[in-house]
Amino acid sequence: MSKLSISNRIARIAAPMSKVSLDTKGSILTLEANGQSHRFHAIWLRDNSQDATTRDPRNGQRLITMADIPADTRLSHAEISGDSVTCVFAPEGLSTNFTVSWLIAHSYDHPLANDLHLPGGRTSWDAGLNASVPTGHLPDMRQNTDALRVWLAKIRRYGFAKVTGVETIPGALFGIVDLFGYVRETNYGRHFEVRTEVNPVNLAYTGLGLQAHTDNPYRDPVPTVQVLACLENSASGGENMVVDGYACVERLRAENPDMFDLLAGHPANFEYAGSAGVRLTSRRPMIELAPDGEFVAVRFNARSAAALTAVPFDRMEVYYAAYRRLSEIIDDAAMEVTFKLAPGEAFIVDNTRVLHARKGYSGEGTRWLQGCYADKDGLLSTLAALETQQEAAA
Ligand code: FE2
Repeated sequence: MSKLSISNRIARIAAPMSKVSLDTKGSILTLEANGQSHRFHAIWLRDNSQDATTRDPRNGQRLITMADIPADTRLSHAEISGDSVTCVFAPEGLSTNFTVSWLIAHSYDHPLANDLHLPGGRTSWDAGLNASVPTGHLPDMRQNTDALRVWLAKIRRYGFAKVTGVETIPGALFGIVDLFGYVRETNYGRHFEVRTEVNPVNLAYTGLGLQAHTDNPYRDPVPTVQVLACLENSASGGENMVVDGYACVERLRAENPDMFDLLAGHPANFEYAGSAGVRLTSRRPMIELAPDGEFVAVRFNARSAAALTAVPFDRMEVYYAAYRRLSEIIDDAAMEVTFKLAPGEAFIVDNTRVLHARKGYSGEGTRWLQGCYADKDGLLSTLAALETQQEAAA
């Protein structure tokens, strides 16, 4: 195997489809693989070195800080052999290897998104999804990691899913969270009851529908996952609805970009002080985006919206028009997926993306659901670990 030097800028072909080359300063490595070219900076490669002095082989965690990497870091040598790219860094003299597949998977040498978009693996949806509501069967998911992986991937993609086969006993909803993570306890407790005895003589006080909303926007961070499990549901009505918050804000932007920018560009205030000793407040936009336009979260809950104080005076009326229009889009039946939970059924939502609602209900009977919160990072972590396991087995 011959070596590359900075001076002669040699490209060494180690496999028919792959080669590497350096620029004259040793500041950029170019990998050509499968007909595509990927450039990497020396400082980026050094920071991501996989050797045992840079990363702990036991846990993969980085052992160095930026202070340990010389500011004049450059590549003094690079070569490729099969799927392995060897890089030698000056002035340290450190040698480290990358696989071609790792480099391609982490390539950044392409136009990057700078517009509204969902993270990878997610799909926006509307009422058309009523035909195929994502569902998993709890006993299957307990016994079969493939079934669990498929269900978790549906939650990642759509932001919600139903569950069947749940025990109709108090606390059974914790068995759903046990599949992927941990319950997030709040001032409402480890779980909360959604129980109403429907009494025909007292209809004024029961059965009110609730507009689609995200839960607890007054927390920072918000609970990122909610689970609602049904123990009894003999009342008429009371269907649950879910709405894709991303699809709603995407539609708002298509209709009126200025309105979208107002809701994304100014913090709203949310608060809850309904219990003694509790005064929760948050200051976050209704539409939260990452700097590159990636959707982060929607917060929408009229019951806990507090006075707006961070909208410029001359934009307040237009802001309210935008808020009203987003509300109308959320209420549009064309956006909603509806299902009535039977005892033994539950659903889970990504509370940063998918709004949930309850339709009004009436007549005799009972409706008893239990709810709890959990966190999305644990859910996505479990899914990623199962996917890695599946890939290793394939
Ligand atoms: Fe709710």
